[in-house]
Amino acid sequence: MQATAIAHSNIALAKYWGKRDVPGNVPATPSVSVTLSHLHTRTHVMFDPSLNEDSFRLNNSISTGEPLLRVTKLLNEVRQRANLQLCAQVTSENNFPTASGLASSASGFAALAMAACKASRLTLTTQELSRIARRASASAARSLFEGFVSLDTYDNPAAEMLAPASHWPSLSLVVAAVTLAPKVETSTHAMVHTRETSPYYSSWKDDAVSVAQDVRTAILNRDIQQLGEAAECSALRMHACAMSAAPGILYWSAKTLELIHCVYSLRRAGIGAWFTMDAGPHVKIICEQKDTHTIAELVRVHCAYVQIANPGPAAYIT
Ligand code: DP6
Repeated sequence: MQATAIAHSNIALAKYWGKRDVPGNVPATPSVSVTLSHLHTRTHVMFDPSLNEDSFRLNNSISTGEPLLRVTKLLNEVRQRANLQLCAQVTSENNFPTASGLASSASGFAALAMAACKASRLTLTTQELSRIARRASASAARSLFEGFVSLDTYDNPAAEMLAPASHWPSLSLVVAAVTLAPKVETSTHAMVHTRETSPYYSSWKDDAVSVAQDVRTAILNRDIQQLGEAAECSALRMHACAMSAAPGILYWSAKTLELIHCVYSLRRAGIGAWFTMDAGPHVKIICEQKDTHTIAELVRVHCAYVQIANPGPAAYIT
């Protein structure tokens, strides 16, 4: 009873920030993401009668505490569906920096949901796997799918593919990580705190619907300028809302601002480049494939890690 799955990371172009239902982990805002080539998590799950408890090894070191609890919670759902009592050994590796705000929980929980269901011999649709992954981490619901993916706010949502990777293969993301240190505040906690304390939260939530619609339209029309402008708008409004919590949550570092200004200078020089940021200080630059090397070389001096990615594949069993 064992299986290995690979899931790729994703970056939200329209952000999820806030929960409509905390226990069910239902987003309060619709999100639209691109699944990334090159950045993935590989997870092996083995249910084993000789084990007395679940274990979780991430990048060759044993994980306990909150990360193990989140893994066990997902495994419990799978065990319940499969009518299985066995504990599991979970081994996971990311091929990119972990826990620093580069969406490792998205690819991690997507790979875990797929590998655990396969190992327990459950046959589920990708939608059902996406719901299991969403309950662990909402952004993970999107990593089950290839290309461009939406996640809505209705009850118990699954993510849906908006367009396959082949729809716009020349769209690129330059992932510019400014540090390899762990992020200061988890997104799970930070978005609940934002909802509870920011006077701007309801405006953020209401406005996010039309920004997500602009992102969807831009993707379907392959309009990089509209996509870049809408994605920047979503990121800045999400961060503005987090900053307006009490106490405020500020993920940016001085290097984040340097990179934002690099993007502005690229645009002044006539290169189509737009930024987005998640729950960390890193900047992801949206651009056309032909400009990736120019952009990567420009930002490299500010960064601990740079990776160029394109729309990537769905999660799969190896
Ligand atoms: C800023 O999916 O990590 O990356 O559901 O609590 O696990 P939980 O949160 P998570 O939040 C991701 C927030 C974001 C935006 C996004 O990916 O949509």
